[in-house]
This record gives sequence, C-alpha cells and structure tokens, in this order.
Amino acid sequence: MEDFQDIYEKEKEEDVVEKILLVDDDKFDRAFITDLLAPKNFSIDQAENGDQALALLSGKKYDLLLSDIYMPGITGIEMIQKIREVDANLQIILFTGHADLATAIEAVKLGVYDYIVKPFDPEDLIWRVDQALEKSRQVKLDLDARVELVERVNAQSERIRLIFYEAVQTLVNAIEAKDQYTKGHSIRVTQYAMWYAKHSEIPFEEASDIQLAARLHDIGKLGIADAILNKTGTLTDEEYNIIKKHPVTSYKILKPIMNDSILKTIRYHHERWDGKGYPDGLAGDLVPVGARIVCLADSFDAMTSFRSYKKAMTLDQAIEEIERCAGTQFDPGIVPGFVEAVRLNREQEELLTTVG
Ligand SMILES: [Fe+2]
Repeated sequence: MEDFQDIYEKEKEEDVVEKILLVDDDKFDRAFITDLLAPKNFSIDQAENGDQALALLSGKKYDLLLSDIYMPGITGIEMIQKIREVDANLQIILFTGHADLATAIEAVKLGVYDYIVKPFDPEDLIWRVDQALEKSRQVKLDLDARVELVERVNAQSERIRLIFYEAVQTLVNAIEAKDQYTKGHSIRVTQYAMWYAKHSEIPFEEASDIQLAARLHDIGKLGIADAILNKTGTLTDEEYNIIKKHPVTSYKILKPIMNDSILKTIRYHHERWDGKGYPDGLAGDLVPVGARIVCLADSFDAMTSFRSYKKAMTLDQAIEEIERCAGTQFDPGIVPGFVEAVRLNREQEELLTTVG
C-alpha cells in the first residue's frame, strides 16, 4: 500500500511532467509521434479532430499543442483561433502534409511557435518539441514573476494607503483640537456630503474624492491664530480676511499629496453660486460640483450645530434657510436632492434611536 510520502512524491512528479496534446485525424501519425516522444516521459493526450481537442483544452492545462492543420471538421487554424480567445500563451507546433504559404502566415499571426512539413524527421521533431517546451517554461516563469510583482505592489499600495489615512486623521484631529465647537465638524460634513452623493448616485470615484475633500476642507485653519478662530464677538475686517485665506492654505498644504479633483473641491468650498464667495469669486458651473456639495454640507452643519454665540437651528429651520439661499449661495440644482437626502437619513436615524 502506498504511504503518504509515496502519494506526495507521485503527485509532485505528475505536476512536473509536461503535458502535450496531440491532434491529428491520422491515427498512424498519432502513434508514430507518441512512440517517438515516449522516452521523454511526457504526458500525452490524443484527439482526432479540432472539436475533441477544444473539449480537452477546456478541462486541462497543457504545455504544448501538437496539431495537424487539415482534419475533418474545423481546421487546425480555426481551432487555434478559438484557443487564442482564451489562452494567449499556449505553445503550438503545427504540421501539415503540404507547405502552404498563406496558412503559414496565418499560423505566425496566431503566435504558433513552429510549423513542420510532413514527413517528419524524427530527430528534428524531438528537437523542436524540446525547444517549444523550453519556451513554455520561460513564459510560465515570466507569468509567475509578474503575478508576484503585482501582489507585492498591491500589498505596498495598501500599506501606503493606510499610513496616508492615519496621517489624514491626525491632521483633522489637529484642527478640531484648536476649537472645541468644531469637534466632529469634518466627520459630519463628510457624512452629509456622502448622504447626498449616495442619494444622487454620484459615481464611486467622484464620491471618494468628495469624501476625502470634505474630511480635509478646513485643514488650512491650522494656520489661523486660536484667538481669531475662537472669537465669540464680531470679527474685524482684518480678522475676517485672515479666516478667508484658509481654503487656499488647505489647498497649498495638500497640493503635494492630493489629486486635482480633491484640491479644487477644497480650494472652492467657500465659493457661492452667485459669485460672491471666496477665494476667487467663481460663479455657477465654474465652481466644481464637489465644492458646491461640500459648501452645502458645511453650511448645513454650521446651521445645525451649537456655537458659543448662537443656538443650533432645528432641521426644518436649516432646510428653510438652505431653500431660501438656493440660487444665491447654493447651487439650485443640488439643493432639492440634498434636502431629500438629509430628511431621509435623519428619519432613519430617529427610527433607529426609537427602536434602540
Ligand atoms: Fe471652510
């Protein structure tokens, strides 16, 4: 009885034995080639036509296909066209009873490794089979190396992504630590922007950029003195001008690490639909759509949050204010969807609180 070690060794051996598929309607030629290659200890399967060969190929991986061209049913060329639709790397040697230039050219176009005219010179055939299998081994090694490289690059990218998000979180915490009233502001603005993005079915890539921009939009406030940032009284013109610089400061801080779409959303999150915003006074569609969304989410959070100098608005009061400012401060095309998204999500939150 075979023990575990024997079975393991046998499986290992089977795995390294190279597999050849031999396709020829002439059983004498099949027998001749099989005998010729017998000392090489290959695993050779036989098919007598193209359809049989395709059926075998669909269930097993071969290292080399040896095929006649002219057979009953589909020709060798037609069979290879079908194979190439799913496998660009299988090594193929074609043979034929009579040389035909047009067919040889077609074979080259299909990436056939070699083309042999019958009758075979036995030694030449063995040599060509060895060469084709060497090529097959090389292709396999290249593919394995490429897969390993892709896996390593993916793992590295994931590591960089995690480090990057941790750094982002640290920056956001740094801004919010400066002002207790803005604690959680970036998270809430992000949440409102994402409610709208989901509700309006904004494509994933675009929504991801808006999400990151919403998290970081006020990062430039790091450069503003606490005395100005936390001032409860009316700001002087000079102080207000300092505050107005924060979108551009955010933009400059993040320029080396963010893409253009995120940067523009951040730079323009205080622009207005009527062009009376800052820093550049852009109006209407010239304000990037991400910035119009973050602006609305940012204002909604400011309205519904408590500050030392004002009470928080109720949901209905904030919605009334947003609708009043549609077409002046806010994009009138975004306001209805934003209001719907906020109402729906607030209702769901209330439901969860009641059930909880
Ligand atoms: Fe801001």
